[in-house]
Amino acid sequence: MTDGLRKGLASYGDAGFSLFLRKAFIKAMGYSDDALDRPIVGITNTYSDYNPCHGNVPDIIEAAKRGIMLSGAMPFVFPTISIAESFSHPTSMYVRNLMAMDTEEMIRAQPMDAVIVIGGCDKTLPAQIMAAVSADLPTVVIPVGPMVVGHHKGEVLGACTDCRRLWAKYRAGEIDDQEIEAVSGRLAPSVGTCMVMGTASTMACITETLGLSLPMSATIPAPHAERFRLAEASGKVAAQMAKAKGPKPSELLTKSSLRNAQVVLQAIGGSTNGLIHLTAIAHRTPHRIDLDAFDRLGSEVPVLVDLKPSGEHYMEHFHHAGGVPKLMAQLGDLIDLDAKTIEGRTLREVVASAEDVPGQTAIRPRQNPIKPEGGLAVLRGNLAPRGAVIKHSAATAKLMEHTGRAVVFDSVEDMTLRVDDPALEVSADDVLVLRNAGPKGAPGMPEAGYLPIPKKILRTGVKDMVRISDARMSGTAFGTIVLHITPESAVGGPLALVKTGDMIRLDVAKRSIELLVDAAELKKREAALKLPPPPEGSSRGYAWLFNESILQADEGCDFDFLRREGKG
Ligand code: FES
Repeated sequence: MTDGLRKGLASYGDAGFSLFLRKAFIKAMGYSDDALDRPIVGITNTYSDYNPCHGNVPDIIEAAKRGIMLSGAMPFVFPTISIAESFSHPTSMYVRNLMAMDTEEMIRAQPMDAVIVIGGCDKTLPAQIMAAVSADLPTVVIPVGPMVVGHHKGEVLGACTDCRRLWAKYRAGEIDDQEIEAVSGRLAPSVGTCMVMGTASTMACITETLGLSLPMSATIPAPHAERFRLAEASGKVAAQMAKAKGPKPSELLTKSSLRNAQVVLQAIGGSTNGLIHLTAIAHRTPHRIDLDAFDRLGSEVPVLVDLKPSGEHYMEHFHHAGGVPKLMAQLGDLIDLDAKTIEGRTLREVVASAEDVPGQTAIRPRQNPIKPEGGLAVLRGNLAPRGAVIKHSAATAKLMEHTGRAVVFDSVEDMTLRVDDPALEVSADDVLVLRNAGPKGAPGMPEAGYLPIPKKILRTGVKDMVRISDARMSGTAFGTIVLHITPESAVGGPLALVKTGDMIRLDVAKRSIELLVDAAELKKREAALKLPPPPEGSSRGYAWLFNESILQADEGCDFDFLRREGKG
């Protein structure tokens, strides 16, 4: 038997001795033989004092352990890296793959028959799922859940859509020091993830759609008692999976479930980061996300969830309106309801038990969508031969077709230094361009794509401009912002060829982003182009590994050696 404690013995050349030694040492923790003979469910502990979004993880773990033990299995909690957005230098994306490697290898290295992975803050769910898919052990995901909303001067506040909106007001001089200080105490009123449709909420909805977590797990607010009951129930399911040895992620992540995830990503007006993470997850399976097919899906799938930044409500309202099961019910035949979940049920059964909430306005019916098309569009053109992304559900309608003069910033530092310089020649009709902010160039593809509107323009009352870059953007942001231009400029992508004064044309209806400079001139510029040196510190350690192995956005920014051979 190679279950439970007998799994993956340390190699001493004598299996009997390896098990004897393992038992002898673990008994130091006070376990009985009865406990040690049970199937084991590992639980990743992603609590960290640096990660307020994961502040409820200890309570989730306690509840999950209860569920596991009530079902006759044995929980073993083990730590992994935790990543919090605002505490990760240079960016959280830089360490996502490190977290994925840590989790994958610890799942492999330690004896367990199933695993519960706990995540929430933007990069943590993707990292843990990428790991679980590669380790391919029966896995239950428990998202930490969204924060409850904040309030300020009679207004409802959501992190971080309102962080950006109110900071822009502060920059424009409409809010003083004292008020912005008060706001900072009210934007994040509880533990949990950002409660708008940012990356954390997007990934939690995708996880639930993929059948990797229990119904409603994406939306129950982090501090609510219901979240801990869900954790207990997740523990019970994990114990069953440990005994049944399945289902494994490889059984749940099919072509059809990945398509379902893309449908939901469009219908929730999800984060652009969601596309990168879903692409990375798919790269760990034999399947792939086809950007053009994803874009076409966008023309069939309406945005039905009325959440900031595309709409009005917050995650707790989505939850009380019926959550992801109700959304999938409304999406009807756009979802393949035969897809399976961790409980062995089909999505059809999940959807059948979705709650009907009279009068709710957070989940629209298909006949009355927020937007008739999905939230994200994929652009191509001479500026983005391998694609770029725009969240057009959270952009200004009149800028969807726009031609403007490029104002180029060579790096995030250059932008920080010059964007508010009164001498900067810029007008509201210009196109702000940021480069060297991609996966390799920055490094780590920072969320710098939400280029600040120059103060002198903000003060004229302008709220949006066309902004383009090879960076990412927080899913919580609003604006006419073209992201993930691929290939990035640091590897010689055409973004590197743009000069201030060139004209750029954005046409979202035609899905195009073009640099209006003739091909001969671009060839000349390409011949003279010098690529930037590798980022400082890239000669050793993780920075070296990152610089050597990071893939572009259209391949999910995973490391090249972590991908699985795909069908294409
Ligand atoms: Fe953690 Fe937004 S900062 S989810």
